[in-house]
Amino acid sequence: MTALTPLRNIPQVNIFRKGDVFVLFGELFGRGYANGLVDEARKAGMTIYGITVGRRNEDGSLRALTDEELATAEANLGGKIFNVPLMAGFDLDAPAGTPTPTDMISEMTLKSWQTDTLDFTHIEKCREVGVRRFKDAVAKVMSELEGKIKDGSNVFFAHTMAGGIPKVKVFLAIANRIYKGRGERFQSSRTLVDSDLGRLILMNFNEVTANTFKYLIEGTAAIRSRMEKTGGQVRYTAYGYHGTEILIDGKYQWQTYTNYTQGQAKMLLEQNAEQAWAQGVKATVFNCPEIRTNSSDIFVGVELSLFPLLTALKQEGGGAWADAQWNACQSLLQPGNSLEDLLKRIEDYNVSDTMKTFRNYAAWPMDNTAALADLMIGTSDAITDMHVDRKALITDHLSALVLEGTGPLMFHEASAPASPVLWLNHDIIAKQLALIHSK
Ligand SMILES: NC(=O)c1ccc[n+]([C@@H]2O[C@H](COP(=O)([O-])OP(=O)(O)OC[C@H]3O[C@@H](n4cnc5c(N)ncnc54)[C@H](O)[C@@H]3O)[C@@H](O)[C@H]2O)c1
Repeated sequence: MTALTPLRNIPQVNIFRKGDVFVLFGELFGRGYANGLVDEARKAGMTIYGITVGRRNEDGSLRALTDEELATAEANLGGKIFNVPLMAGFDLDAPAGTPTPTDMISEMTLKSWQTDTLDFTHIEKCREVGVRRFKDAVAKVMSELEGKIKDGSNVFFAHTMAGGIPKVKVFLAIANRIYKGRGERFQSSRTLVDSDLGRLILMNFNEVTANTFKYLIEGTAAIRSRMEKTGGQVRYTAYGYHGTEILIDGKYQWQTYTNYTQGQAKMLLEQNAEQAWAQGVKATVFNCPEIRTNSSDIFVGVELSLFPLLTALKQEGGGAWADAQWNACQSLLQPGNSLEDLLKRIEDYNVSDTMKTFRNYAAWPMDNTAALADLMIGTSDAITDMHVDRKALITDHLSALVLEGTGPLMFHEASAPASPVLWLNHDIIAKQLALIHSK
């Protein structure tokens, strides 16, 4: 188990400057965490490059982006994108003429999936095909990138990949029960983890969320070695999740969203960084707070831990700017609903016996329970109902702030990183935001 190692002081060093190279290893979406780092790279005058995961044809085969898709993605990133599909995972891979894992599970039904078995010898062969495809694609991208980096430059590789849920109808229905279900519709995450379907999905998470970081580090060994020999430095960052310290009962306390089914994969990501670090590579996983993005919207209640950030903003010296954030958030609530009442409700939720049970770092990632789902999803629904517009939520505002705070923290810490795994909790994010906005 990784020791809990939060970043406590705002990093000040910056080795990156004009002419240095920033590579985003994952696609950039509107609300995604990676925007924070891309903004910093742009401010530093770095040359920005990106990749694509590619797109699927109707028959499931992977293709590069069309000219139009590429132009849109490059405009969005503000940099050139290497148009080689870097879709990770093996859910649609298989030795020629044999079924893919997606084919194997597509016959499963809501009635049968818990007892349906899978041939893991075949699945392992599919995994090998997927890994080879991905590593070959990394090699192609890096040979294109190689020629674009001048000797002696500093290079920042920002990994942002996470995912791996296979696209089959039955899993959508299962996910709706595990992450959104209450009462009769509740499903324990344990039933998934104990099933063959769950075992396959966890293997795919490991590939997409964790091992892509390892393949990135391995696939850039030549660039790293050339830069280091010519006076440049190379850094790697990845976004982790392993719970977050937020203000509960007046103190910063570790808490987590449950069930975080990708938890094992995120711990493998941490181990991949630790192994690279032990070999002298400056690779750091930054465990970041829960925010609302394209990827996290499915987890109802994950956003609840964001609210105490408002209190942290005041506590960490946010001053008039913090007051303005409170006013902006208050204005999103219907008349008659106060932000103070909302925060009191969140505090009651966090100090409840049900939630306390899950503040167990050593046991992470714990299974969900019916009582947890009832409380968490119920609180989430009730708080959403307090808003004027369900599409303009306080948690959208707070997610954007967290993203803004993590950008400079990760960018500067990566210049002289203290360790391979660091937590960015609400305290340091609030301090960083207060610093940015007091200028
Ligand atoms: N949202 C949160 O609450 C939260 C909290 C802590 C850490 N993170 C991490 O931050 C990172 C970015 O996520 P985000 O929440 O900003 O969402 P996002 O949807 O913006 O980013 C997800 C990223 O994963 C990539 N991806 C998805 N499936 C892939 C596949 N099969 N192969 C290769 N790449 C794939 C996408 O291209 C994209 O870059 C992820 O590692 C995520 O786990 C998110």
